[in-house]
Amino acid sequence: MSDQTVEHYERVAADYDEHWSYDPDYVRRFSDAIVDSLRLTRSDVIADIGCGTGLYTRRLCRDVEPEKPVLCVDPVSAMLDRLPPSARMRPVVASAEDLATGRVELPDADRVDAIILKESLHHVASREETLAGLAGLLSRHGRLLVVMLPRTIHHPLFREAHERFAQLQPEPAEIVDMVSAAGLRASVSYRTFHTAIDRERYVRMLEARYMSVLGEFSDDELRAGIDQFRHAYRNDPVLRFDDHFAFIKGWVKPG
Ligand SMILES: C[S@@+](CC[C@H](N)C(=O)[O-])C[C@H]1O[C@@H](n2cnc3c(N)ncnc32)[C@H](O)[C@@H]1O
Repeated sequence: MSDQTVEHYERVAADYDEHWSYDPDYVRRFSDAIVDSLRLTRSDVIADIGCGTGLYTRRLCRDVEPEKPVLCVDPVSAMLDRLPPSARMRPVVASAEDLATGRVELPDADRVDAIILKESLHHVASREETLAGLAGLLSRHGRLLVVMLPRTIHHPLFREAHERFAQLQPEPAEIVDMVSAAGLRASVSYRTFHTAIDRERYVRMLEARYMSVLGEFSDDELRAGIDQFRHAYRNDPVLRFDDHFAFIKGWVKPG
């Protein structure tokens, strides 16, 4: 993981939840989609890799009530420090690569039933090897879910941010192939979350570089981008857009 990524998440950790919980219903709908997609049950041993502050993990724990604590894995301690104390969530300071290679062992389990990678895989350098290593941690009825944005998104970002995002973001179809190459039965579906945010709130999110792609811009470039944004949305006090996410699933094959 690059120093830039670590610095980015160390900087945004304190305000991360505030930026993303502008609509509590969004978190609930998203968590429901993950639970539904992985068909999570109470008896599953679950690892949320790149869980960040646990914004979605918390909700998921409330709904699934897992018997064993969810392994909340993230390499940036500042993000994990925001997890609320809970017997249902166990923080593990590690990257996806650490777990995949065995550099860090799963605490209290040698297998997991469900792995969630929500908006974290784009930070992983060697994705194919890492997905294969993670697939090797799954139990006989194991499932893995990668949730990611496609390269083209409808967030009301400024032009340069859209362009940079498209350069950095992996293509979901490539990830499906990697999940399949890891020996899992792979499939992809898309889910859409309707989003509405007050424009001024969104300006604050841009200023705080709420998406990691915004960390690619200098202060001056960001300021220019925000001016561009303000001009483009000058007649829209509330921004409405559709957030499309790829849900890429990998199921352990029977036998
Ligand atoms: C966009 S945030 C998503 C956090 C959380 N899953 C959510 O949806 O709110 C990306 C997270 O991935 C973590 N991350 C960065 N590099 C990683 C890696 N190599 N392995 C696992 N997680 C990583 C970051 O620290 C950050 O918490």
